[in-house]
Amino acid sequence: MKIIVTGGAGFIGGNFVHMMLEKYPDYSIICLDNLTYAGNMETLSPVMDNPKFKFIKADIADRAAVYKIFEDEKPDILVNFAAESHVDRSIEDPGIFIQTNVVGTGVLLDACRKYGITRYHQVSTDEVYGDLPLDRPDLFFTEDTPLHTSSPYSSSKAGADLLVMSYHRTFGLPVTISRCSNNYGPYHFPEKLIPLIIANALAEKQLPVYGKGENVRDWLYVEDHCHAIDLIIHNGRVGEVYNIGGHNERTNLQVVKTIIKELGKSEDLITYVTDRLGHDMRYAIDPTKIHDELGWEPTTLFDEGIKKTVKWYLENKSWWENIISGEYQSYYKKMYSDR
Ligand code: NAD
Ligand code: TYD
Repeated sequence: MKIIVTGGAGFIGGNFVHMMLEKYPDYSIICLDNLTYAGNMETLSPVMDNPKFKFIKADIADRAAVYKIFEDEKPDILVNFAAESHVDRSIEDPGIFIQTNVVGTGVLLDACRKYGITRYHQVSTDEVYGDLPLDRPDLFFTEDTPLHTSSPYSSSKAGADLLVMSYHRTFGLPVTISRCSNNYGPYHFPEKLIPLIIANALAEKQLPVYGKGENVRDWLYVEDHCHAIDLIIHNGRVGEVYNIGGHNERTNLQVVKTIIKELGKSEDLITYVTDRLGHDMRYAIDPTKIHDELGWEPTTLFDEGIKKTVKWYLENKSWWENIISGEYQSYYKKMYSDR
């Protein structure tokens, strides 16, 4: 079995590469990644010597490069993690989100159609469903919830999902889509809430909370997410969407306070800053379908997962300190100075 994992030098793709090589020692895993600011070869350093692993630097939107990789490698499965993934950056500069997330997905689908594939899996997001109101805790996203996006990021992901489904209906391509809630865990880029708060708290820097910190996210430990994708690519039904999430809802303020407590820091570091434009209020997944059809359920509850995550960041300082010492500094100044 040969699997191409796009975006494998990023957060979730990197965790997926590690898991698959460990779980299936006879599978060949090829990481296709063009190493944007979010891609990091240090995430892949533990597997670079594995003879079953290969890294290829390429842009998913570069048709000639992608076709050449398919000709050379003849993959059985492609799992597409590659994307621009940060909502705040999509508000600053939507163009690259359309280019990678929509055009890039289109190129991958064309390659699968041209060269053949047993499964194309698209890693999508619950953000394609828009948001839920805070005063309706009884509501959850199901696979039938209409797409109703808020940000250029979520719109580009929804556009990609629609393309994927159209290649199934029109050309019979064997596709699946998963839509997961917010992930957290090792190798998470420190522009996102949880690793940003850990890094800032350790440096005794202000902890920026957008608006009143009341927005709710449904946190999913990254290993649980990777396990779900493994089940879908092996046992999921072609042409289906699977939501992945595990009823671990927390307000942003609860998350920040939990991290502060775990690190023994002061809540005085919390700083309320200007809210994100178009900020989604609440995400919450109903995982009944993947549970009933594939037997998936998350094994890591938030209180345990956040402890594991904080521990990982404490034990792997060089991984994220390298990141925040570079270009990230100018990103941080630009994004947070006018909030
Ligand atoms: P990430 O930003 O950490 O990593 C993205 C990776 O894709 C990087 O390695 C980057 O170099 C690569 N990449 C970007 N553009 C590329 C291109 N044009 N060609 C090749 N490679 C390219 O992202 P992540 O958080 O690991 O997210 C992975 C996937 O999961 C994304 O599709 C994202 O939309 C989805 N997702 C993420 C979350 C989350 O909480 N992080 C939640 C739901 C869905
Ligand atoms: P983020 O990690 O960017 O994920 P997403 O926008 O995809 O949900 O943000 C998670 C939540 O945390 C979101 O409601 C925005 C909020 N947030 C802050 O309050 N402060 C921050 O500095 C960041 C990055 C996010």
